[in-house]
Amino acid sequence: MRNIKAIIFDAYGTLFDVNSAAEKCKDKIGGKWEAFANFWRTTQLEYTWLRSLMERHKDFWLVTEDSLDKSMKAFDIDLSMKDELLNLYKVLSPYKEVPETLKTLKEKNFKLAILSNGTPSLLNELVKSNNLENLFDDIFSIEEVGIYKPSYKVYNIPIKKYHIEKSEVAFLSANTWDVSGGGNYGYQSIWINRNNNIFDKLDYKPKYELDNLNKLISLLS
Ligand code: LAC
Repeated sequence: MRNIKAIIFDAYGTLFDVNSAAEKCKDKIGGKWEAFANFWRTTQLEYTWLRSLMERHKDFWLVTEDSLDKSMKAFDIDLSMKDELLNLYKVLSPYKEVPETLKTLKEKNFKLAILSNGTPSLLNELVKSNNLENLFDDIFSIEEVGIYKPSYKVYNIPIKKYHIEKSEVAFLSANTWDVSGGGNYGYQSIWINRNNNIFDKLDYKPKYELDNLNKLISLLS
């Protein structure tokens, strides 16, 4: 990959493991913890898309709570666990290769940024709790435009700030629809496919498909 002036990462599911909150409670939740975590995530994303279409924006933290309420009911999980799950969501763990990969890219002087649905305070806390706060040049939140991904308005945020071409951005996401969203906008989108998933049919084929973020280093060298 040539002429990359900024590397922009999705946060939830790409840098940080969205299932790690429920996983940390798996002793209490039992064997259904993973199905519950997937349902929570899917509901959360559906709410972001529905709210964008309805033009009834609510921030990502509130959407995360709303989707948790529905998911706890659907999986018959004791309501006393709600605060614990929400607090764990604030300090999700990164995927294991993430800290080293970011450090190496930073040493190579790449401009690194996050572009995420999360609110600025959520994203700052997440990055800080994992000691990653010095690695990013910017943390861009969709709150700046008040609509969720995959609106082009979101992908336009870093372009406006950096005054670079869309094709000079390497955009990394593990969320297939986000890869398509960024790619259709004009980024060079790279799919992080950790679990051998199937890609979407949304008019964009990822520029590259990597099974973990670490592979990005050789791609950009
Ligand atoms: C984000 C969602 C897509 O971080 O996971 O924007």
